[in-house]
Amino acid sequence: MATDTVCAKCGGTGFVIVERADISGARPCDCRFQGRAERLEERAQIPPLYHNASFDNFVVPGPENPIARRELTTVLMAVKKYVDHFPDDSRPGLLLVGEPGSGKTHLAVAALRKIVEKGFACLFCDYQNLLDRIRSGYDPSSNSSDKEAYRVALDAEVLLLDDLGAHRVTDWVEDTINSIVTFRCNHRKPLIATTNVPDADAGSVLTRKSALDKPEYRRTLGEQIGERARSRLFEMCTVIKMPLIEDYRLRKAKKF
Ligand SMILES: Nc1ncnc2c1ncn2[C@@H]1O[C@H](COP(=O)(O)OP(=O)(O)O)[C@@H](O)[C@H]1O
Ligand SMILES: [Mg+2]
Ligand SMILES: [Zn+2]
Repeated sequence: MATDTVCAKCGGTGFVIVERADISGARPCDCRFQGRAERLEERAQIPPLYHNASFDNFVVPGPENPIARRELTTVLMAVKKYVDHFPDDSRPGLLLVGEPGSGKTHLAVAALRKIVEKGFACLFCDYQNLLDRIRSGYDPSSNSSDKEAYRVALDAEVLLLDDLGAHRVTDWVEDTINSIVTFRCNHRKPLIATTNVPDADAGSVLTRKSALDKPEYRRTLGEQIGERARSRLFEMCTVIKMPLIEDYRLRKAKKF
């Protein structure tokens, strides 16, 4: 970082020389561990809109709305439990399924930030953006420009894939997402994902009334990302269905 002053102990090399008997060797300097949490948070590339998203500022509806209050509290507790037990090798992932504006990304980022605090290297990736970057070869704006975006998605210690399935489906998309999910599943690498795409096994409603009052069929998660990736996701993730409550942005707007 440009604002850092150079460490007096190691002169910025990150190593100090230690003399033992006749041999001199190098050990990592203490300055490497200072600010590690801040660095990890920066590297997580959380979008500015969610920089402050936390469990503390996640609002549950008031007592005037007891069902929504209970359901959202249950969801909040389940995500907190996932974080408390992190990392859980038998079920390393978390999948949040629900309508737009239900708070999925907020909760996923809140979880990710807690996991960063635990010292894990996390990475936020927008699904569509990740696929675009993989397709175009590499991401020149990323600080790991020599690494392909694909490799980054496989290697990230903890990956948050936001808005999974929000992309037109092609064989290429299906194969790509399948290899990422399968690789992470096989290597027990945590994956946190959010999706607006409904899934019957996550309790989603698959048909909804269209403007013409005809039931409108919605494409499912299996159709959007492929059945193989979907099945792997369910195998590796704690699946959480967001309650059907009004979009938080609308709820909030009404209060003013
Ligand atoms: N229960 C909540 N408490 C506080 N802020 C919320 C809550 N739910 C959503 N938000 C905020 O509303 C906006 C939309 O929520 P978001 O998490 O992006 O929804 P989703 O990912 O489900 O579409 C974000 O700015 C988020 O921080
Ligand atoms: Mg979202
Ligand atoms: Zn140093």
